Amino acid sequence: MAGMLAFYHTTVGKKIVMAVTGVMMFFWLLGHMVGNLQIFLGPDKINGYAHFLHGGAAEILVVVRTVMIIAVLLHILAAVQVTLANWAARPVGYSVKKDIETSYAARTMIWTGPLILIYLIYHLLMFTYLKVGPGISETDVYHNVVEAFQVPLISGIYIVAMIMLAFHLWHGAWSMLQTLGANHPKYNRLRKIVATGLSVIIAVGFVSVPVAVLLGFIR
Ligand code: HEM
Repeated sequence: MAGMLAFYHTTVGKKIVMAVTGVMMFFWLLGHMVGNLQIFLGPDKINGYAHFLHGGAAEILVVVRTVMIIAVLLHILAAVQVTLANWAARPVGYSVKKDIETSYAARTMIWTGPLILIYLIYHLLMFTYLKVGPGISETDVYHNVVEAFQVPLISGIYIVAMIMLAFHLWHGAWSMLQTLGANHPKYNRLRKIVATGLSVIIAVGFVSVPVAVLLGFIR
């Protein structure tokens, strides 16, 4: 335990915690996205899935929720600590800003991260706690999603949030592969392809739902 804490106190330790929790969140997101895509199969399919999550799989859901809340908190804690340490090490800004890929990534992560957190709170209030959004039903997830996304402003907020999420994932995957050692110029092209592929899959999968509702494919 003491060894783990000592390792966490190093910058590499914090970056590894961010990478590991980032990968956990990525797989959770992939699962959530695939779950959401069932909306294209009709109300029975997605409502049945929601029913299963809250009924048959309720105990697994509690474990997954607990693990993911810890992962999100650790990810945020490590990100804040690394950012503060960077600022403390460089109180005066560079006179010439070098737009190297890593510094650009770090700068965008600082605002995409908190904005995604704000989006997440809004999203949970809407679909999990059923406190905001139009025509909320306790039992009909399909109805809740369609009613919400028929409002262009709500769909717009979601689409912008998903674009930010894609940027965050892109830079996250890029930095993570660097932390894990794939930092040689030989691997840079592959790193870009992997980071782009992962973020595009997530963004397109999530954005397809509000877009389909706005276009009237799902009603
Ligand atoms: C178009 C995009 C999305 C749609 C339509 C959507 C839909 C939903 C719905 C309907 C629920 C409630 C499920 C239920 O309680 O039965 C939910 C829960 C949730 N969503 Fe999303 N979601 C989207 C994107 C996202 C994104 C991008 C994130 C993360 C950044 C996210 C994070 C969550 C979380 C943490 C929960 C709570 C899970 C739980 O109850 O354990 N969602 N979402």
